[in-house]
Amino acid sequence: MARMAGLGNMAFANSHIVNTYAKFRPAPPASLIKAVVERVTEGQQKAGVSGGGAALVCVDMGCGSGQNTTLLAPYFTTVVGVDVSQPQLDVATRMHSNVGNVSFRIGSAEAMPFETGSVNLVTCCASVHWFNSPTFYREVDRVLCPGGVLACYSYLGCTPICEGRRLRDTLLQVWHELGTYWPKGHNLLLEEYATLPQLYPDDTHIGSEEGAFRVAFEGTVEGVVGYIASWSALDKLRLNEGEEAAAAFLEKAKKRLLSAAGSDKEDIPMTREHNYFLRMWQKPSS
Ligand SMILES: C[S@@+](CC[C@H](N)C(=O)[O-])C[C@H]1O[C@@H](n2cnc3c(N)ncnc32)[C@H](O)[C@@H]1O
Repeated sequence: MARMAGLGNMAFANSHIVNTYAKFRPAPPASLIKAVVERVTEGQQKAGVSGGGAALVCVDMGCGSGQNTTLLAPYFTTVVGVDVSQPQLDVATRMHSNVGNVSFRIGSAEAMPFETGSVNLVTCCASVHWFNSPTFYREVDRVLCPGGVLACYSYLGCTPICEGRRLRDTLLQVWHELGTYWPKGHNLLLEEYATLPQLYPDDTHIGSEEGAFRVAFEGTVEGVVGYIASWSALDKLRLNEGEEAAAAFLEKAKKRLLSAAGSDKEDIPMTREHNYFLRMWQKPSS
C-alpha cells in the first residue's frame, strides 16, 4: 500500500487557521450524504440486519470544525467527530453543541478510539490525505461491522465564477504556487482520490467532473480570498515567512482573480463553487 503523509497534529493547531477554516470551508451537499447513507443501508441489508431498531454508529474522522459531522446526524443513532487538533474540536463543539446525537472527541485516525466491529460508517471529509494509509486502513477494517462503509470525499480548491467566466485555471495556479508548502499527501487531491489504495473490492469512485456533488456560495472576490486563507499551505507560509508575506500572497491572488475576471471592481459578484469527488468501499458482509 502507498503511504500517505501522516503529519496531522502540526497543522490546524493555531487560532488563525482554525477560525478562518470554520468561516470559509464548505460542507458537502445533501446529494453526497444521500449517496453514502444509501450504501450503509444496503450494507446493513446484505449483512442481514433489518431496518428499525438497530443502532447505527458513524465516525467522522478528521472532523475539523464539524461541518460534515452534523450532516450525518439525521441518519445515525450516534455520530462521533474525531480529530487530532483540540482547537478544531473546540470550534466544532461550540458550533454544533445543539445536535443531540453528535459528539466530538480527540483521537487519531491511526488509533481509532472505538471497539472492534462497532461502526457502520467511517467518513473522511477533506481529511484522508492527511492520514497514514496502512495504519488507518487497518483501523477502519477493525472498527467497521460487516457491510460497513468507508467513505472518503473532498474537493480540490474551488471554481470562482464571475459574469459567466470560470476562473478555475487561475485558482489552480494560486494553489500550485504554494508548492512544497503542500504536504505530499495532497497529490491524492489532484488525483481526486483515484489513487488511494483499495480497501475492499466493493469500490466506488465518482469524480468531480460528473458534477453530482456541487455546492456554491454567492459573494465577491473576498470570499474566494478568505477561502484561500484557510489552506494549510498558506498557514505554513505564514509560519515560515511571516504575516506580511501571507498578506502579500493573498493580495496577489486577489489581483490575479480580478484580472482574470476582466475587472478591477472588488465588489463585482463572484461565486465560489466547490465540486466534491467521492471514493468509498463496502466491507464484505460475511
Ligand atoms: C482539511 S481538514 C478537514 C476538516 C473537515 N472534515 C472538513 O470537512 O472541512 C483535515 C482535518 O484532519 C485532521 N487530521 C490530520 N491528521 C489527522 C490524524 N492523523 N487523525 C485525525 N485527524 C487528523 C486535522 O486536524 C484537520 O482538522
